[in-house]
Amino acid sequence: MADIDTGSNPFLRRSYELAGAEDAAVLYDEWAETYDADIVESMGYVGPAVAAARLAELAPSGVVLDAGAGTGLVGVELAARGSYTVDGVDASPVMLEKAMATGCYRRVEVADLTVRLPIDDAAYDAVTCVGTLTEGHVGPEALAEFVRVTRSGGHVVATILDPIWEPKGYQAAVDALVEDGQVALREADEHPYRTLQDVTCRLVVLDVR
Ligand SMILES: C[S@@+](CC[C@H](N)C(=O)[O-])C[C@H]1O[C@@H](n2cnc3c(N)ncnc32)[C@H](O)[C@@H]1O
Repeated sequence: MADIDTGSNPFLRRSYELAGAEDAAVLYDEWAETYDADIVESMGYVGPAVAAARLAELAPSGVVLDAGAGTGLVGVELAARGSYTVDGVDASPVMLEKAMATGCYRRVEVADLTVRLPIDDAAYDAVTCVGTLTEGHVGPEALAEFVRVTRSGGHVVATILDPIWEPKGYQAAVDALVEDGQVALREADEHPYRTLQDVTCRLVVLDVR
């Protein structure tokens, strides 16, 4: 595991050592009740706000897939900034119940982001993926799926934990999509992520061809 500050939160430490979607569901079903307080209040988590603000600059409305929706923090941030219809997918049913309860999602569905999604090509105007392309979670292979389900002219907006952006192959996966002509890389800049810890992310924005 990369050397990343997880503070004293046992759920976050365990989350960086997950072994797939089933493992994720077990952990996050357990964490769902206190997740928002733990991560937002105690760790200063701003990933959802950072990603939603960027998407709102690029497209103030649209139909969005929130991949790894969790408790719905991204949906809430999008609703504050624009006029979006948001669907959520995630491995954890209990996290998704929380997301649905925010009132910011049209529908939610349990799905494994490490395999092909049960979603048609070009079904969405944009895909957001925040806090999920991270240590022990979902690897770079998911990026091609996000591109597949986004329409031409749409955007993929994803946070990637900065310490693993290059070493765990996310940068190479983006480069491959660019070389293949599927996307243009708009940016992959470093942004605040957990402000009460010294942890940053890359905010990757892909323009789908
Ligand atoms: C740190 S949370 C981020 C949730 C939300 N996007 C946010 O920013 O608060 C990571 C989410 O990824 C989900 N997850 C982990 N592995 C997954 C997988 N293989 N497929 C689908 N979801 C997964 C977890 O269930 C969890 O809800």
